[in-house]
Amino acid sequence: MKVVALVGSIRKDSYNRKLAEYVKNKYKEQMDVEILNLRDVPFYDQDIENDPPAPVKELRQKVAAADAVLWVTPEYNYSIPGVLKNVIDWLSRGDRVINGKPSFIMGASMGLLGTVRAQQHLRDILFSPGVNSPLLPGNEVYVGVVHEKMDENGNIKDEATVIFLESVIANFVKWFNQQAAAMAVK
Ligand code: FNR
Repeated sequence: MKVVALVGSIRKDSYNRKLAEYVKNKYKEQMDVEILNLRDVPFYDQDIENDPPAPVKELRQKVAAADAVLWVTPEYNYSIPGVLKNVIDWLSRGDRVINGKPSFIMGASMGLLGTVRAQQHLRDILFSPGVNSPLLPGNEVYVGVVHEKMDENGNIKDEATVIFLESVIANFVKWFNQQAAAMAVK
């Protein structure tokens, strides 16, 4: 299964990026995760949405070619960062490559709540009709107090988090395969 990871933080020491890298490296057998570079994606502009700059074309091509999207979001002021909202706006227009693409969400923060409010907003956006991205049901991944759970190399040292992520990835793969099988029957 080919998965693109869209990470809402572009800073070099981002915990969320490290979380995406952890998933990419740890679950190589189950899925091929590519973390996309979002730094060069310009602000959404309706005037050029059908012939956008190269970074947007590349973003759309990679999402179109992927089986699923992994969103890894920090929480900024109780919501998702502008980096992610901007990407969603581009993906929801033109050839609408996000439409129908299965998604799952994770997020990490140093606070106790682990991006719960940002993820609630992200779910609302993904379910909006213009985006329409089906979301892994029944699993929410909030990695709170991340600075105590992850070492400087991005390894998760908190055993409960490791075990929980294991179950979420297994659930996602199972759910994705069920969706794919249902699509094949139609
Ligand atoms: C934050 N942070 C934050 N944390 C939180 O739990 N709730 C919030 O509403 C906010 N708001 C917020 C706004 C802005 C502009 C910044 C820069 C930060 C703290 C945030 O969780 C922390 O910086 C994380 O480390 C950001 O994620 P990365 O960059 O480590 O992936």
